[in-house]
Amino acid sequence: MIESGWTLAAGIVAVVVGALYSLLLGSLLAAAWVVVWLLARRWHRGAEGRSRGKQVVLAMLLGLGALFIVAQAVPYGRSHTNPVVVKEPVWDSPATRALAVKSCFDCHSNETTWPWYSDIAPVSWLAYDHVVEGRRTLNFSEWNRSQEVDEAAETIREGSMPPRYYRLLHPGSGLSDAEKEQLVEGFRVTFQASPPGG
Ligand code: HEC
Repeated sequence: MIESGWTLAAGIVAVVVGALYSLLLGSLLAAAWVVVWLLARRWHRGAEGRSRGKQVVLAMLLGLGALFIVAQAVPYGRSHTNPVVVKEPVWDSPATRALAVKSCFDCHSNETTWPWYSDIAPVSWLAYDHVVEGRRTLNFSEWNRSQEVDEAAETIREGSMPPRYYRLLHPGSGLSDAEKEQLVEGFRVTFQASPPGG
């Protein structure tokens, strides 16, 4: 009885939240539409002396602006609550962990630091997708399950990890040649002594 009461309450809450959300989404869409309409009307009045090319550019900018506003209402990628840290490997040294933290942890652990711009679509979608994909392949916070550790050394040596765009956005996350060798060696010893899944 208690259980079905809970289910019912949870269901009602879900429906109410869903309705409120659609309302919010709907009013945002309506607001964006009104703004575009008002701007378009003004622009039409003053369009006499304007060249065709300028009109097209203006229309495109308006369209982009409207899309940007609407994109902010998409729920995907909004949640930035990190899952709990279940289990970390037994690191061979604090130095190895420190290197992994500065270069890998944002995408390969449950301790992601989300910068302010990861709240703004469409960056939010890309960031979220990369963190989810990164955690799926290799997650230093879930060492209780199997991990793709075999290619780690290769990705570091060839410089594909951390990704280039990430290094640009996070100065200081890149690895010098000496640090690369140190991390590769540290990973080798750590993964051997503390294999994932155990
Ligand atoms: C900005 C996010 C990001 C950072 C930082 C990052 N990775 Fe990744 N990594 C990914 C994503 C996304 C994937 C899965 C998709 C892919 O294969 O490109 C991945 C895949 C991998 C894989 C699986 C093999 C492969 O190439 O697909 C390994 C191993 C790996 N990363 C190691 C690392 C190591 C080691 C670091 C730190 C030196 C690191 N990554 C830093 C995002 C990141």
